[in-house]
Amino acid sequence: MNTSVQDRPTSFWLRLLRERRERMNDERLDLSTPIVWESAEEQAAAIAFFNAAFRAEESGLRQAHELADDVATWDPELADALRLYGDEEGWHRELLTQFIAYLGGAIRPMGPTTRTFYRLYARAKKHETIILTNLMFETIGSTTYRLALGTAKPRPAIQHMLTILTRDESFHVPLNVHFLRRILARAEPGAGRSLRGIYHLLTASLMASTAASRRRAQAFDHIPFPTLARAYAEQLGRLFVHAEDLGFTPSRALLATVGLRRRDLLGHDDVLSVAAAEQAADRSRVVVSAL
Ligand SMILES: [Fe+2]
Ligand SMILES: [Fe+2]
Repeated sequence: MNTSVQDRPTSFWLRLLRERRERMNDERLDLSTPIVWESAEEQAAAIAFFNAAFRAEESGLRQAHELADDVATWDPELADALRLYGDEEGWHRELLTQFIAYLGGAIRPMGPTTRTFYRLYARAKKHETIILTNLMFETIGSTTYRLALGTAKPRPAIQHMLTILTRDESFHVPLNVHFLRRILARAEPGAGRSLRGIYHLLTASLMASTAASRRRAQAFDHIPFPTLARAYAEQLGRLFVHAEDLGFTPSRALLATVGLRRRDLLGHDDVLSVAAAEQAADRSRVVVSAL
């Protein structure tokens, strides 16, 4: 059995983040071959798909850096980790800016569903709410990218972009679990309980949001609505099976809407293992497979 990352100190994460930063610039997208689209609809959907990714990066970057400034007063090491993490999202944002232009698109204003989410998220004041929301966004991000790797029409540049995002967001999941634990350890009594309410609400809202994302992006990623909604429920649920101490248990009723039971979430690949996190420090050693 893999050791859990549960009791790893911040210094462990800081070391991995520093190693990752050193290797960050070695990676470049090869955008020399233009994409031949099946249809204008497919192209528009691809641009919408990567625009959604761009917004997630932008928001992750801003929240991480703002939080780092607050956290610096009581845990400078944790603040450094938050900054380096935000920088990784900043790097993704740069890559996506180039990539969206390569697809023949531009960075566009958000649609109504996305805007509502980010508005609520930007208004979150409590540190633990910000981190939990971010953690859940990371989880659905890596889930969507992994599914798309197997379902979008394969083209080298698109596969490369999706692989980078999947791989890095998978590392960000256990990293954000660490942030959440550190921040909860300092939060007011009862903070964990109110956070559980947010977890349930957000899980349901994110599952519902897949309907809007299907209208915009399905012609590119070919992920059907039931598949995506179920994958969100599964991955968000599994996250907390592996981080039991946080006390989040996915709702039976909600899981049932996508044909899942709690026991279906047990015994799968451990996204929160030390081995997985260590490996993620060296991006070239990470093998990304489609979901
Ligand atoms: Fe990212
Ligand atoms: Fe991320």
